[in-house]
Amino acid sequence: MKIGVFDSGVGGLSVAQAIQKAFPKYEILLREDIKNLPYGNKTPAIILEFVKPILQELIDLGCDCVVIACNTVSTTLITELRELFPLPLIAVEPMIKLASEQTNTNIIAVCATPTTLASKRYKFLKDEYAADVKVLEPDCRDWASMIQENKINQKIFTERIGEVLDQGADVIVLGCTHYHWIEEDINRLAKGRATVIQPEQAIIRQLKRVISGL
Ligand code: DGL
Repeated sequence: MKIGVFDSGVGGLSVAQAIQKAFPKYEILLREDIKNLPYGNKTPAIILEFVKPILQELIDLGCDCVVIACNTVSTTLITELRELFPLPLIAVEPMIKLASEQTNTNIIAVCATPTTLASKRYKFLKDEYAADVKVLEPDCRDWASMIQENKINQKIFTERIGEVLDQGADVIVLGCTHYHWIEEDINRLAKGRATVIQPEQAIIRQLKRVISGL
């Protein structure tokens, strides 16, 4: 079994490591698009042209399915990509449904890229699952680049997370896979006030379902 994993950058590595741990016998092919990142401040049309050849390469290399380990790509392009490519594609989206189920304060925070937050799919998720919940969207526009370049400015994260905690958010959604690398820092900041959720275990459950149907 060959599983492709794709992201603009190090978010993909975090997801690929989690998948490899869950499926030690499967071959994981990770592709990143470092030269074109960040995706999160680009338009879907531009991103689509970056993604197409990479998915084609993963297919040519024999992948049985591909995890689109990028919320920005999944929320903006999954429909087009599923039409263009004939294999199962697993999408990764902000976990708004789970956050809405878990919140006690009725306030959640979604940390995601500007392109994800502007997408129709993200609006749909909010309307469908968080109609009665206040959804805070801290400004995370520089986070993916900072994490990618390992130039993490703790002051910025501390301020942004502090703001949403002060506004009462008790669930923080990591809606960009790059942010998985600062999950521990955010957990530390949120300790006792909010839980932090990210999709790696959900991706693994979805992969199991997809693989069992192949
Ligand atoms: N890791 C990607 C995501 O999940 C985006 C990073 C970028 O802006 O390139 O949205």
